[in-house]
Amino acid sequence: FCSSSCRSKSCTYKQSTEKLKEVSARLKRDLIRGLGKHSHHRAAVKMLPTFVRATPDGTEKGDYLALDLGGTNFRVLHVRVVEEQQRVLKMDSKICAIPQEIMLGTGEQLFDHIAACLSEFLDSQDLKGQTLPLGFTFSFPCEQKEIDKSILIRWTKGFNCSGVEGRDVVQLLKEAIRRRGDYDIGSVAMVNDTVGTMMSCGYRDQSCEIGMIIGTGTNACYMEEMKNVKRVEGEAGRMCINTEWGGFGDDGSLRDIQTEFDVVVDQTSINPGVHTFEKMISGMYLGEIVRLLLVKLTEDKLLFNGQTSEALLTPGSFETKFISEIEEEGTGLENGQNILTELGVKWDPVDVRVVRLVCDTISSRSARLCAAALATIANRIRVNRGLDHLKTTVGVDGTVYRKHPNFSEELQDTVRLLVPKCSISFLVSEDGSGKGAAMVTAVAQRLALQSR
Ligand code: BG6
Ligand code: GLC
Repeated sequence: FCSSSCRSKSCTYKQSTEKLKEVSARLKRDLIRGLGKHSHHRAAVKMLPTFVRATPDGTEKGDYLALDLGGTNFRVLHVRVVEEQQRVLKMDSKICAIPQEIMLGTGEQLFDHIAACLSEFLDSQDLKGQTLPLGFTFSFPCEQKEIDKSILIRWTKGFNCSGVEGRDVVQLLKEAIRRRGDYDIGSVAMVNDTVGTMMSCGYRDQSCEIGMIIGTGTNACYMEEMKNVKRVEGEAGRMCINTEWGGFGDDGSLRDIQTEFDVVVDQTSINPGVHTFEKMISGMYLGEIVRLLLVKLTEDKLLFNGQTSEALLTPGSFETKFISEIEEEGTGLENGQNILTELGVKWDPVDVRVVRLVCDTISSRSARLCAAALATIANRIRVNRGLDHLKTTVGVDGTVYRKHPNFSEELQDTVRLLVPKCSISFLVSEDGSGKGAAMVTAVAQRLALQSR
């Protein structure tokens, strides 16, 4: 079985550097394909224009509302932006639970729930009388026609509400608010969480032009030259592109690196065949990959004396956070013992070490695959600008990146190895992408006023 010191060229688990370079080259081809004029319906990597053309210039100010839907938590926020380099003066936020019945229910139920959470929040902040502009971080692939017109292409991760795919999310939100009739909102700006993350880091570091999420799902956005964005008119300047790299491999291009466990995770998910790359990388799936591996090793009599348990055989029972806990330096083995006891298996000390090795293998594969994808994007920006060397910053968020003990280090080391011509700094987003959504709204308002 493969270990962290494994250097085997043919290893399916730890992708060798050669393999990662190959994966990176395939993604490069897919990015170009996705940017084509009519290609987003067919392309695995959708490359969606976001209509975000500018980062903040320092003159934005005002009060904004923001919604942040699609990560671990649904949040409602009130953000006050003051002039002078967009120091966000004040931010209040509230987490609102979304029950699973709603995540899998009808679109109307979902938007009624969102509108109800917003209503409660406005009451608590004494804001009901005002009509504030709203930034909506909606972390799913959308075909944007404008900053305030955003059509859901398909649900990903744990959501699958009926009657929303193919419809304008802004319209659905506004209709739900109208149905209630107890408050109103101003103009709306739609952003993907990667874009919100890039924007919220962008006000701390002007050279932040990539946003990356490694959380429940995984994705990245970056500033592309307008002349390459064939689906939007105009040649001048840049536009932020939401790559939706989670869909990489949906046309079968990653079949050689998918394992039997990846195939099972995909087939038992709520959206088989969709988001192949994401299912090898993100928090929603990593725990389940580890569980399937543990079951297989046990059935092969290599673990727990060949005895599984009911819990171990239950899908979803091995949570992704267990991986971080087991890999923790110092306390990891003890955490592993407690987790395995909870799972009802009879372990001996060697078993615990093997389990830790499995966790390390799977989280490390995830970090290295992400690094290959990030390397493709950084290199694309470098080549776009005709530079020998690019210095850039990536704004990052997501529980896997934040919470895993050595994920970020492995990702950064691997990117460095893959693209020596790019120096990349990593900036973890401080307050999530809701603040970035407010920034996008502020910039959109400024541009609208200027063009009047
Ligand atoms: C949050 C952002 O901090 O990170 C969300 O505000 C984003 O917009 C999320 O979706 C991603 O992380 P996770 O792990 O919660 O999916
Ligand atoms: C999924 C979504 C994408 C989002 C990512 C991270 O891949 O499709 O829009 O950015 O998850 O939350």
